[in-house]
Amino acid sequence: MIGNLQRGGQMGSSEPGTIRVEIFGPEMPDGVPSARAASFSRAIARGFYEPESDDAEQKTLTELDVADQTVYIAAYDQDAVAPSLHADVPVGTYLAFPGTINVGGPALLPVNQISAVTVTPAYRRRGILRAMITADLQRAVDARIPLAALTASEATIYGRFGFGRVTERVRFELDVSTGARMRAPSTGTVIELAPSALEGQVCQLLAAQHRNTHGSLSNASFDYGQATGRWQNYQDLKPARDLRAALHLDGQGQPDGFMTYRFAGWDQEPAQMKIAMLCASTPAVRRDLVEYLGDHDLIKKVTGYGPVGDVLPSALVDSRSYKVLSLWDHLWLRILDLPAALAGRGYLNDGSIRLKVVDRLGHAAGTWLVEVSQGQGNASRLPEASDFDAQLDVRDLATLYLGTRSASHLAGAGVLEAGDPAILDTLDRIFSTRTTPYCYTDF
Ligand SMILES: CC(C)(COP(=O)(O)OP(=O)(O)OC[C@H]1O[C@@H](n2cnc3c(N)ncnc32)[C@H](O)[C@@H]1OP(=O)(O)O)[C@@H](O)C(=O)NCCC(=O)NCCS
Repeated sequence: MIGNLQRGGQMGSSEPGTIRVEIFGPEMPDGVPSARAASFSRAIARGFYEPESDDAEQKTLTELDVADQTVYIAAYDQDAVAPSLHADVPVGTYLAFPGTINVGGPALLPVNQISAVTVTPAYRRRGILRAMITADLQRAVDARIPLAALTASEATIYGRFGFGRVTERVRFELDVSTGARMRAPSTGTVIELAPSALEGQVCQLLAAQHRNTHGSLSNASFDYGQATGRWQNYQDLKPARDLRAALHLDGQGQPDGFMTYRFAGWDQEPAQMKIAMLCASTPAVRRDLVEYLGDHDLIKKVTGYGPVGDVLPSALVDSRSYKVLSLWDHLWLRILDLPAALAGRGYLNDGSIRLKVVDRLGHAAGTWLVEVSQGQGNASRLPEASDFDAQLDVRDLATLYLGTRSASHLAGAGVLEAGDPAILDTLDRIFSTRTTPYCYTDF
């Protein structure tokens, strides 16, 4: 148990009681989820208004959480009694597991990945999320994890906890009535195979993509089963019988990427293939896989996900065949240990700057001398009342840090203050990146 919240106000006819927050693991005594772990999983499904999983599905999900070293944080109403569901089912859920993120440096950096955040309707806006997230971020700091990441159901929730938008995702469609011809020659061959035949390769191929993609997050165990058709998604853990797969082989016949996809059904006009997962160790592999999918007889449209500023329109013979259907924020990042985060990043240019960082939770707050020399970053804390060149909130520092937006962009948005345009030039140079960060994984 990590704490109690005070009794809340009247909501409808029920009065939520004192809240107790507990941190525990995906317990599986005798190979089955403990009552506490099972009710945690039940609460997550209810929190997202989804059907509850059955015993077998709960076992699978708990086993995956064990494999990922997941930590559960649950909030209970100490005063709830039967027949209230919350006599044993948590009123708040939150989980976190360790992963890595590609910030363009020589090594992947550890990141605390947060998911399954829910608070039951009658208990909302009483500080339950705040209690869970502040406890977890402190836990990550204590474990010397420099960054935390999540995806957000609403853009207004996590900025106050220091998370900034760092990757965006586009849903695109390609008109493939005459194929998806690329201007550059292909770099290998594509073979069709059963998704289950990817079993031995998925882990390694996803890891290669992760190493080569700025902004990428490591995959969780769930993803391996999804790639191989062991299950559809979190809500449907039955085998995915409609899933198809293709493997890309390089010039030496070695696998270097794969794609899973589905036919949308004959009731869809025009006939369409949907890319489910695309894993490519290089942009060339991705181009080949997309071209392969565009080459299916009767198929007029391909849909998939990709980064903002995708290379596809530049790569395609018919650039207008690519159309963006929607765009939204995907990954949100939180800097917890500023010196470790900055030292682990890759840099294209050297420079130095004094940055004042505002952080309401305190983790990265202060005035910092940021120096990059020969591509190596270093941040040292300056005395509290020191002069500084620019000031921003830690959430916007995350956006600058990953190279999602430039300092000039953030200044234009009014969320970065710099006294002098030359300061913006310096910041723009220091934090520039070769590519826009992109994250393939969902969690
Ligand atoms: C989002 C959710 C977890 C928030 O839980 P909660 O216990 O009500 O949040 P808290 O009371 O701790 O709120 C903390 C702060 O965030 C704000 N906040 C919480 N949810 C918010 C929302 N959806 N939009 C805007 N602000 C929100 C609160 O106003 C409060 O602000 P303040 O401390 O600056 O005054 C809860 O509303 C929920 O379960 N929503 C449905 C499921 C969901 O979307 N989960 C998030 C998945 S990423």
